[in-house]
Amino acid sequence: MRPLIAILLVINAATTAVALSGEALAMVEDSTAWMDKFYDPSVGQLYDLESKAAMNHETLTSAWYAVGLLARNGNGGKDVTEAQRIINFIIADQHDNPKDLWYGGYTREPEEPDVGSEHYPAKAYGSFDPNWRGFVGLSFITMYEDFGDLLSEDLKRLMLESLFNCSIGDSYREGGVNGDNLWPSYSNPAIMRAIGTGWTGRKTGDKNMTKAGEDYAQKIIDLWDMHNTLSEFNSATYTGISIFGLTLWAKYMPEDSIMAKRGPGILSGVWNTTSQLWHADMRNLAGPWDRSYSLDMTIHLGHLSLFLASIIGRKAAGLHQYPEIMSHARDWAWAPLIAVHSEFHNSLLSDELKNSLKTFDGDRVWKGQAYYPPHDLDTRNITTWMGKTLMIGAQSYHTKSKNGPSNNNGQFHPAVAQWMYGEGKIGWLSLRSSQAHVQVEVSANRLKITYPEGGADSVFTFFVSPSMLQPNVKAWADIQGISISVTGNVDEKYDLKFAGRYGGELSPWYDHNYWRFEYKMPAVLNGSPELVIDFAPPKPFNRLS
Ligand SMILES: *[C@@H]1O[C@H](CO)[C@@H](O)[C@H](O)[C@H]1NC(C)=O
Ligand SMILES: *[C@@H]1O[C@H](CO)[C@@H](O)[C@H](O)[C@H]1NC(C)=O
Ligand SMILES: *[C@@H]1O[C@H](CO)[C@@H](O)[C@H](O)[C@H]1NC(C)=O
Ligand SMILES: *[C@@H]1O[C@H](CO)[C@@H](O)[C@H](O)[C@H]1NC(C)=O
Repeated sequence: MRPLIAILLVINAATTAVALSGEALAMVEDSTAWMDKFYDPSVGQLYDLESKAAMNHETLTSAWYAVGLLARNGNGGKDVTEAQRIINFIIADQHDNPKDLWYGGYTREPEEPDVGSEHYPAKAYGSFDPNWRGFVGLSFITMYEDFGDLLSEDLKRLMLESLFNCSIGDSYREGGVNGDNLWPSYSNPAIMRAIGTGWTGRKTGDKNMTKAGEDYAQKIIDLWDMHNTLSEFNSATYTGISIFGLTLWAKYMPEDSIMAKRGPGILSGVWNTTSQLWHADMRNLAGPWDRSYSLDMTIHLGHLSLFLASIIGRKAAGLHQYPEIMSHARDWAWAPLIAVHSEFHNSLLSDELKNSLKTFDGDRVWKGQAYYPPHDLDTRNITTWMGKTLMIGAQSYHTKSKNGPSNNNGQFHPAVAQWMYGEGKIGWLSLRSSQAHVQVEVSANRLKITYPEGGADSVFTFFVSPSMLQPNVKAWADIQGISISVTGNVDEKYDLKFAGRYGGELSPWYDHNYWRFEYKMPAVLNGSPELVIDFAPPKPFNRLS
């Protein structure tokens, strides 16, 4: 251990425990009680929340559970004792060879062999996940700051040492070097890195580390200042994590830090856009999304919903009463971490903004721009139209590859429509990116897509929602809740396939079954490939009619 750290611990100010109420308290209680069942006291870690893991343990969710235990602080002191055991275990398991690219990172599961050993090659986002530094690191910072008075001095010293190694390891990351993808444009881990490094530098008195945090934050801020949007634009999951990181910028960094100065403004700027893309009746975020695992926030849990829940309540945020039954339920383990910051976070938002999340006040159009270097070759132009029961959001982009701004084809949704029918059911249609250059036009009930560099072999591929009301789809007319007509210079005969969990010609996309409509070009193509969808939206549902 570095003696330097021990000496500087005296600057640690007294901490006060967080007082929670309302939805924030319910989130801590419900999520922690759910995780209690997964806790293995013989080890001091959670069993993996996914049954697929055959009762291996999981480092990341264990860190979030520890936050829940400290926030609950019950069971006659046992919650605190177990939280400390969990933290100790995670740190003992941390990668500790400074020569490794994954140095200072945290294991994925304690059962794993040493990363980079003969039978367990190092693979980013495989055998190690470089973003775990942010997820575990910021959980540690939260516990250190908000629950420090519950933790022993020895453990706090160890946490600082762990965070110090974590920050050194993060400094090895540079987009494009060693296959890494952490550019300042990769907003959510970039925001976490800036404070992980900046906070730890100050706490340990390491001026170089403090400056590295400030410098990294400045790069993120420079990107923000271009268009007042995050480079990793709009995502129910990752915007939530960026908001989490920005909350810590505002909450924990001292006044002289650029993160304290700019954090609150950027945070409310992100919310300004998010609030306009949030459809309160449909309980969904309109597209387009740079990264998404789902097309419907009422069946899939994203981090943004946890922040929304703390403002407008669980139900209005689209969360199920029992979020653990939803797709990506594992992220319900984040609830304590978000809940303990919610009061401070919500205090940074205006009443006007918070109120605007509660009701849908009529048709609107949002226009904005985003830029994600180095994958973006041009500024992206985004247009989203939102009506009572239908919303359409799309972006024009010109990127290095068809994988889009985040270089992640599977998660990229450049053009999306969602509609509501029946009792709050959500239908959806999403263009799958097959081109590096796409132009879109969005207006009321209409989406037009053009491929300026497309040709005879171009395709327009859409994933479209299945429905129990009509499980057999033979044509567009069988898609529930909407009426869709397609025109353009494409061959009007389309190819239709089904992707199902238990069969079909294709496999599900993440957790979702879907119908795939695909258009090809005709024998003679006139001009650039172009396709127009006209939607006739569903009538508002009325229980009494
Ligand atoms: C931090 O890394 C050093 C090697 O640089 C290692 O000796 C030490 O044990 C690590 N500390 C923790 C808490 O893992
Ligand atoms: C200072 O910080 C930078 C960025 O984190 C790092 O690359 C460099 O190695 C550090 N230098 C020293 C002397 O610690
Ligand atoms: C969003 O930002 C715009 C432009 O700065 C401002 O006019 C509007 O009041 C903001 N909306 C909310 C809800 O804060
Ligand atoms: C977005 O609009 C700007 C003009 O504001 C234009 O220069 C740029 O080429 C457009 N981007 C794309 C991908 O079409």
